[in-house]
Amino acid sequence: MKNDIAYTLVSEAEIDATVSRIAAEIDRDYADRSKGLLLLCILKGSVVFMGDLMKKIERPVEIDFMKVSSYGSGTASSGKINIMLDLHRSDLANLDILVIEDIIDSGRTLSYLVEYLKLAGARSVKTCTMLDKPDRRVVDFTPDYVGKIIPDEFVVGYGLDYDEKYRTLPFIGVLKEEVYSN
Ligand code: IMP
Ligand code: MG
Repeated sequence: MKNDIAYTLVSEAEIDATVSRIAAEIDRDYADRSKGLLLLCILKGSVVFMGDLMKKIERPVEIDFMKVSSYGSGTASSGKINIMLDLHRSDLANLDILVIEDIIDSGRTLSYLVEYLKLAGARSVKTCTMLDKPDRRVVDFTPDYVGKIIPDEFVVGYGLDYDEKYRTLPFIGVLKEEVYSN
């Protein structure tokens, strides 16, 4: 698996420091909220980031999951958002939702999801992403919390996949071009 990686973009140590920094920002920003903070993990790519982040947040949180896809197979987004696993809760009016995403590319997934959750009645909706590729934006979207801004490269590891592979790598790396060109 590691042989398919051209180079490491974000090391394990850098990921750890980044997640700690974001957790502290969340604890600071949500300190005065007496009601529930819901960390909403977007499956599958965000599961590793979510697991690390939730352990470092000190204030109480609830967790939940949605599965949304804007991707077919390969390295290009289809542009269409499908909700494959929805959030079924009756207490949205009492919830501050923080959507946890692995990476923002075109921006379509999160801009759609934020509107969707607001329409569903959430008290507030903010977004947190481990990685951001602002050069790739198709729709205007700015996340509230960002781990690392990265160049326009296709990355894998730390939950991110190429055709369902490489999610278990503990670091974030750039795939060798030969892996997706054949
Ligand atoms: P967006 O709707 O184009 O912002 O799509 C974001 C989603 O595309 C992410 O949640 C990932 O699943 C996927 N994605 C975008 N860029 C990459 C990448 O470099 N590697 C792996 N998945 C990616
Ligand atoms: Mg994803």
